[in-house]
Amino acid sequence: MSGTAAWWTDPHFELLSQAERRQVFHTWNRSPADCAIVTGDISHGSTTLGWLRQLAEAFARPIYFVLGNHDFYGTSIAAQRLAARELCGELENLVYLSSSGVVSLSSATVLVGHDGWGDMREGDWQHTWIRPPDLNEIEELREVAHDRSALQARLRQLGDEAAEHLGRVLPQALAGWEQVIVATHVPPFREASWYEGENSGEVWLPFFCCRAVGDVLRAEAERYPGRQLSVLCGHCHGTGEAQICENLRVLTGGAEPCSPQVQRLIEFV
Ligand SMILES: [Fe+2]
Ligand SMILES: [Fe+2]
Repeated sequence: MSGTAAWWTDPHFELLSQAERRQVFHTWNRSPADCAIVTGDISHGSTTLGWLRQLAEAFARPIYFVLGNHDFYGTSIAAQRLAARELCGELENLVYLSSSGVVSLSSATVLVGHDGWGDMREGDWQHTWIRPPDLNEIEELREVAHDRSALQARLRQLGDEAAEHLGRVLPQALAGWEQVIVATHVPPFREASWYEGENSGEVWLPFFCCRAVGDVLRAEAERYPGRQLSVLCGHCHGTGEAQICENLRVLTGGAEPCSPQVQRLIEFV
């Protein structure tokens, strides 16, 4: 059994005109892929699940997704994750990787994933002047936005949740399959945090890298040198590729404003 997966990231439906949305649906529907992998920032939180529903009904093939920070805007992380799980219970071709186990794509390839979060463990978190809109838009972050230590603790907790999930599913994936695809929203290594062809830089890295996930990925890649791990992520809107070690590489997907494109057609055997 072999096949292809169309990888999308950061489509940001909330920014698209009607004509642009129609074009995206047209692209999805004519895709030759057997499934789609979406690495977050689908839309503004209040509309994300509606777009997922429409995509699932139109695409009629499996859609595996994680959520990005924008997908939680106007709501809470806990509520949106619960709603995403409930939607997946209703639509059988929709799979939220943050709450699923391993997904076998073929006899050799398996998919796992989690939203991830910029966990303030990379870059100059003490002096960064960046105030991402997340701090106003997402309930759990608004509560601690004015206290840097409390914010750091909350963001680290979110990174740790992602790392714990991957720490549970990766050993099973690596024990049973040769190729492991990991879908996540936030780049898990500073080397994979791209913006306009360069590293996103010290002031952005606290929010543009989930090091807790990176630490788990590196450790598991070292434990299974005969397996290949490929990470798909987005968030920074800059395209790039980083080879972290011999059997671990990270593809970061770019996003042009109002022009979502398939990042890659990924072939698996
Ligand atoms: Fe985005
Ligand atoms: Fe994002």
